[in-house]
Amino acid sequence: RKKMTIQQLNQMRHAGTPITMLTAYDFPTARALDTHGVDIALVGDSLAQVCLGLPSTTRLTLDEMLHHTRAVARGAVHPFIVADMPFGSYHASPEDAVRSAVRMVQDGHVEAVKLEGGPEIAATVRRISQVGVPVMAHVGLMPQRHTALSGYRVQGRDAPRARSVLDDALALEEAGAFAVVLEAIPHRLAEYITARLTIPTIGIGAGPGTSGQVLVWDDVMTRWHGKKAKFVRRFADVGHEEGRGIQNYISAVQDGSFPDAQTEGYEMATGEWEKFL
Ligand code: KIV
Ligand code: NA
Repeated sequence: RKKMTIQQLNQMRHAGTPITMLTAYDFPTARALDTHGVDIALVGDSLAQVCLGLPSTTRLTLDEMLHHTRAVARGAVHPFIVADMPFGSYHASPEDAVRSAVRMVQDGHVEAVKLEGGPEIAATVRRISQVGVPVMAHVGLMPQRHTALSGYRVQGRDAPRARSVLDDALALEEAGAFAVVLEAIPHRLAEYITARLTIPTIGIGAGPGTSGQVLVWDDVMTRWHGKKAKFVRRFADVGHEEGRGIQNYISAVQDGSFPDAQTEGYEMATGEWEKFL
């Protein structure tokens, strides 16, 4: 197997082969994505909540993100590696955004960055793309704006707002984005946007009509017990297995059945115990 490329992602989009993307925040998860052939590893800033226990993505710093992207980059050999630019690291000016994006590549070892927004970040997306850092856009529900939006809710349900989501996607494709995440929008709108764009669309809560799908690792594995969004499907119950493992460990230590001296311990070298005494 070879490293996934943007060219291949485009080929998949045009062939109608669904693109798979999952988040990863550490080395073992990145290894799992790699082993099982996920196309894109996303170091999402959902890292803030599901991995660091922060209340929202807006608290995550660039340095915290870089610490995790390096770990993922060591494990994700074949998947294409994309990471979210943290809130605040691309807003002050396009120049500042380019500096942050370069850090994501040089210190964070990512291959592409993801930015939330519409026409207001088009100049920034253009500059970052032009220096050679591929940009994935993220429109629809933009979690970095959850306070301004008064929560996390479906976007584009009425005609003017649907138009505005489409305009965001078109503006960022125009600005050079190589793909776009569509989050929490009506499935017909996502399908329409996918047909209007030439770049791949990756949906989350956007129905089956996009070029690919993305979900958060901890949602997929049931390791996260915050509020479950409507669009989350739990594909495994790792949380349950972990709980069983912890309970079994506690019981075995408490009842003395772990560890077993013979099979889980070490012997002195022959004759040494007598000398020691
Ligand atoms: O941070 C994240 O995990 C994301 C995906 C849900 C698209 O941005
Ligand atoms: Na994100």
